[in-house]
Amino acid sequence: TSGQPLKAMIAGAPAAGKGTQCQKIVDKFNLVHISAGDLLRAEVASGSEIGKKAESFMSQGFLVPNELVVEMVKERLSQDDAQQAGWLLDGYPRSADQAEAIEEAGIRPDVFILIEVPDEELVERVTGRRLDPVTNTIYHMKFKPPPDSVVDRLIQRSDDTEDKLRNRLDTHHKNVEAVIGYYKDILVEVNGQRGMDEVFAEIDGVLSAFSEDDMPKAAAV
Ligand code: AP5
Repeated sequence: TSGQPLKAMIAGAPAAGKGTQCQKIVDKFNLVHISAGDLLRAEVASGSEIGKKAESFMSQGFLVPNELVVEMVKERLSQDDAQQAGWLLDGYPRSADQAEAIEEAGIRPDVFILIEVPDEELVERVTGRRLDPVTNTIYHMKFKPPPDSVVDRLIQRSDDTEDKLRNRLDTHHKNVEAVIGYYKDILVEVNGQRGMDEVFAEIDGVLSAFSEDDMPKAAAV
């Protein structure tokens, strides 16, 4: 391949497994994981101006306005670590406007992975999700049960209710086709209605084909 660090985008409905797959991808490929949702939650947690403005949109399951998101993501992508190791952008772009904004900035991935899971399955995934604030591991009470030693510290996201999921899903369905339209030539659709490791095996195959040349170099730096 080109010898450039790998640049990948990952998309999918809420709770389709983006974060879960990103943890596996990062472990293997050493890319910098940039999650728009995580960046926004960090702003909320820090009490910043962006965070204060974003909070009500996020807790209701609506997209945060572009003026809060676009620069934040562009800025993060431009940092040295992402430029040198390559990046894995998760949850951005989520609209045609957002795709347009990074196209204009000359930011284009090598591959766009779309994880597909039917809506009915997402309710159970979202309501059973728990997060470990210490290690950032994503658990599921049924599909990836947490060890006893961490159970007491697990947290549940405020938007992880069936009710909020409806808004998040509506937003996703309204926008996904327009976003995909920007990346048709590099789109890889992955069936996410399988075990986490099976889903990863497919993604691993896709990314390995891109990064054969790059990984040893990245590791040698
Ligand atoms: P964001 O944080 O991106 O949330 P999301 O898209 O709703 O995605 P999730 O994090 O909920 O799910 P995931 O796909 O990562 O699933 P996970 O791996 O955890 O965004 C949150 C909010 O921020 C948005 O609503 C919006 O307000 C705002 N925002 C974000 N980006 C924005 C943007 N670009 N513009 C404007 N606003 C923006 O998996 C879910 C559960 O299922 C887990 O418990 C996991 O263990 C389990 N699981 C995973 N894979 C499997 C499997 N294969 N089988 C069984 N269980 C599985």
